[in-house]
Amino acid sequence: MQNNIISGLFVGQNLVTLKEVDSTNNYLKELLANSKPLTEGTVIMAEAQHAGRGQHNNKWLSEPGKNLTFSILLKPSFLPIQQQFDLTRCISIGVINALKPYFGIALKVKWPNDIYVGERKLGGMLIENQLQGSQIRHSIVGIGINVNQDNFPEGSGTPISFKQILHRDYHLQTILAELCKGIEVSYLQLKAGRVEGIRNAYIDSLLAFNEPRYFKVNGNVVSGVITGVTGEGLLQVNHDGIESRYNLKEIEFLKNQ
Ligand code: BTN
Repeated sequence: MQNNIISGLFVGQNLVTLKEVDSTNNYLKELLANSKPLTEGTVIMAEAQHAGRGQHNNKWLSEPGKNLTFSILLKPSFLPIQQQFDLTRCISIGVINALKPYFGIALKVKWPNDIYVGERKLGGMLIENQLQGSQIRHSIVGIGINVNQDNFPEGSGTPISFKQILHRDYHLQTILAELCKGIEVSYLQLKAGRVEGIRNAYIDSLLAFNEPRYFKVNGNVVSGVITGVTGEGLLQVNHDGIESRYNLKEIEFLKNQ
């Protein structure tokens, strides 16, 4: 199904809505591999995914018809591959700016790219970059946002939905349109070379920035303070005066005491 309810220049102008798919990221990748070139900003949205994927090879579970699960095709060939994390920052900030009217300052990015309200996860993203030589040829930006789901299975982390916070149902297409707009604005800022603005906005929205916190590192509980995120996207944590840098597999946030 094709339609066009989204304002803006290109993100969401070609919108494909599917009843059910394995994963919108997979679907977009298969389209890229098998069909004629797709325009930048194409969005694949699914009412249901039966093999939704999250980070760390986790499954992304979402009740059919209740939440947003979609993928955006971007072609950031202007971005050096060493700067891939700036795309992560840019998409995170696009989402934050789009959803701020609903949640205000409680809306945060949990490093590297989870979207949190307070200490609970409203959504996440799986960005898969296809490289060609020294360029990013395609970026498949998969986003899942919990909207109208009333409850979540036990043991599935700390999810929360719009409905659980704001006590009403929301029109998925409206929120999708707002997200496309926010991401487009942020992406055009990145494309125009205004990287510092994006990096600063990312730090301004970073969960637990400059706050004492407990983490798990190599199986041990340690305290520390997040002091920044490196250019390549490593988390910088100060432990009693000693600065350490971590990738995603090396550090786990523990629940705030
Ligand atoms: C995470 O927080 O672990 C990332 C979740 C990403 C989920 C979205 S839903 C749409 C797109 N398709 C997928 O299979 N995954 C992403």
